[in-house]
Amino acid sequence: MVRPDDLDPQRLPSHVAIVMDGNGRWAQQRKKPRIYGHKVGADSVRDIVQSSREIGIGHLTLYAFSAENWQRPAQEVSGLMNILKSYLVSELEEMEKNQIRLRCIGDIDRLPDGVRKVLLNSIERTADNTALTLNLALSYGARDEICRAARLLAQRCRDGELAVDSIDQQMIAGHLYTAGQPDPDLLIRTGGERRLSNFLLWQASYAEIYFTDIMWPDFRRDAYLQAIQDFQQRERRFGKTGDQVRRPPT
Ligand code: IPE
Ligand code: IPE
Ligand code: MG
Repeated sequence: MVRPDDLDPQRLPSHVAIVMDGNGRWAQQRKKPRIYGHKVGADSVRDIVQSSREIGIGHLTLYAFSAENWQRPAQEVSGLMNILKSYLVSELEEMEKNQIRLRCIGDIDRLPDGVRKVLLNSIERTADNTALTLNLALSYGARDEICRAARLLAQRCRDGELAVDSIDQQMIAGHLYTAGQPDPDLLIRTGGERRLSNFLLWQASYAEIYFTDIMWPDFRRDAYLQAIQDFQQRERRFGKTGDQVRRPPT
């Protein structure tokens, strides 16, 4: 078991992103409806948000519903939306108390009115909090996000605000939903699949990726600390040699 004291406070990821996968299979393994897995998954969300806050993670992005997930059976989609809404309602007080700033990345116009309303209210109420930024990826697709940035930039060029040649990496990053936030250092996917599923394609270009077979409803504090400990043992080279990053020239 990993304890928070076992972690090196100097080498914490500033931004952790998680693909919370495996709810449906977890429930099916227990002969329960898939939605039961999503409900228990919401308890994991609570646990991981709280643990992030305690460890001192500054930014946490949770993939809760993808742009592609709209294709699921209507009953599962509406069940997920209801769980999301009650999660937001029940957690607002806790977020306010714990200095958690809620943000959303994704196409929120596609969300049902009721969900959008509570979401926008929670975002507004927590906007000035400074301890942990919690990004919920809802109706999110990375390719859509990049297309949206391209459209915003094209519009600014057309309006004469921007020269085409001035478009660089920083400017593209500044037009993504995550503008102003650090790139994820650690990207975790639970549930055993080893793919990104259209998550943070731009932002994760140098993220350390951690795959675990643990299904999301079982992914709690201890498994999370283990992932962070694994991250702390990696050598991030960013294209340089090992020697360069271990002994930077003085
Ligand atoms: C992740 O769990 C939650 C969402 C995608 C909303 P899944 O529902 O994808 O669970 P599996 O992958 O079918 O087990
Ligand atoms: C990715 O999981 C999206 C979320 C966790 C919200 P999926 O279960 O939808 O991914 P695929 O379809 O198996 O790639
Ligand atoms: Mg899945």
